[in-house]
Amino acid sequence: MTRPKTKIGVIGCGNISGIYLEAGKAFDILEIVACADLDMERARAKAAQHHVPRACTVEELLADPEIEIVVNLTTPDAHAEVGMMVVRAGKSVYNEKPLTIHREDGLALLDAARVRGVRVGGAPDTFLGGGFQTCRKLIDDGIIGEPVAANAFMMSHGHENWHPNPGFYYQPGGGPMFDMGPYFLTALVMLMGPVRRVTGSARITFPERTITSQPLYGTKIKVNTPTHIAGVMDFANGAVGTIITTFDVWGSQLTPLEVHGTEGSMTVPHPNGFGGTVRVRRAGEKEWTEVPLTHGYNKQHRSIGVADMAYALRSGRPHRANGELAYHVLDIMHAFHDASREGRHVELASTCTRPAPLPLGLREGELDD
Ligand SMILES: NC(=O)c1ccc[n+]([C@@H]2O[C@H](COP(=O)([O-])OP(=O)(O)OC[C@H]3O[C@@H](n4cnc5c(N)ncnc54)[C@H](O)[C@@H]3O)[C@@H](O)[C@H]2O)c1
Repeated sequence: MTRPKTKIGVIGCGNISGIYLEAGKAFDILEIVACADLDMERARAKAAQHHVPRACTVEELLADPEIEIVVNLTTPDAHAEVGMMVVRAGKSVYNEKPLTIHREDGLALLDAARVRGVRVGGAPDTFLGGGFQTCRKLIDDGIIGEPVAANAFMMSHGHENWHPNPGFYYQPGGGPMFDMGPYFLTALVMLMGPVRRVTGSARITFPERTITSQPLYGTKIKVNTPTHIAGVMDFANGAVGTIITTFDVWGSQLTPLEVHGTEGSMTVPHPNGFGGTVRVRRAGEKEWTEVPLTHGYNKQHRSIGVADMAYALRSGRPHRANGELAYHVLDIMHAFHDASREGRHVELASTCTRPAPLPLGLREGELDD
């Protein structure tokens, strides 16, 4: 039986939108019917390139009664405003990361959605990829014992050498923590559960950056947000996590993500992707062993979180890349900065439920009801 598709509108037709507009086609349940941008030329170009039936203004998109979920791919400074417009239009919204820049905007968005009976989702959804679902299964099956520690390292020199318009990465809501932290922290919360308290240190190493990508080559960017953040997290389950996110280093040989348990250690794939290699080294073993992936969705499937939300809206189950999780991650990221500024541990006011693992044996293109 073919079921009706969930109609999707996309707001924000910039750099990342093409990946969503293509990957979204892989899911039986999704039908992208319109895209909008402040810049109509951009919306028209993306619609033509990816065969989206309609390019329109934000207002026209929100007025379309058939659109049930809006994917918000605007820059972080517009996530709260656009997200709220979507919710007020009576539609569910899926924001790119971070959920919003400020905590109060994130809470207001979740509250408004609750009142109107619509859903809030948030990127990243890479934790629904086969690499992470395999790691989750290994932890849940007790293969590494009780989680003891985790380490996450995002070591880079920033985005001004490739992104066509990289200024937002150096303003509040950007920076390596708000840009890449969501991938690492969402993966860790999915694997280990929520975080109870954090501490950290942060700095700005280079107060000015020079764009070396086109078309803005040579333009200077004033840096207004920390670009090197080192954090420590106490998870509610007792494990201790260490994270560095930086735009200030030229090279590193650190493994992006590892989880350590009482019975063994596990390397987790880079959380900016879906598949990757999982290795385990159990107590007493001298070598790491590669573990075959137990789950599918191992390629570029950005928008799997949107598809999961569409299934969840039909059946009433919780969606996995949800607002509660995205808000908890936002709260953790702020807390590292607060802790550094104030020289203390910060107890988190937020928490969340670990999103349910994906079942085994899903056909690519479908998710569970
Ligand atoms: N570029 C990447 O590789 C990448 C990867 C993953 C996630 N993201 C996230 O995706 C989001 C977008 O990033 P990007 O690189 O595509 O940025 P971008 O600057 O290339 O595109 C953003 C688009 O949003 C539009 N926009 C801004 N405010 C708007 C508003 N109020 N109403 C309608 N349109 C508006 C802009 O005109 C622009 O076309 C960010 O949150 C970023 O963190 C980007």
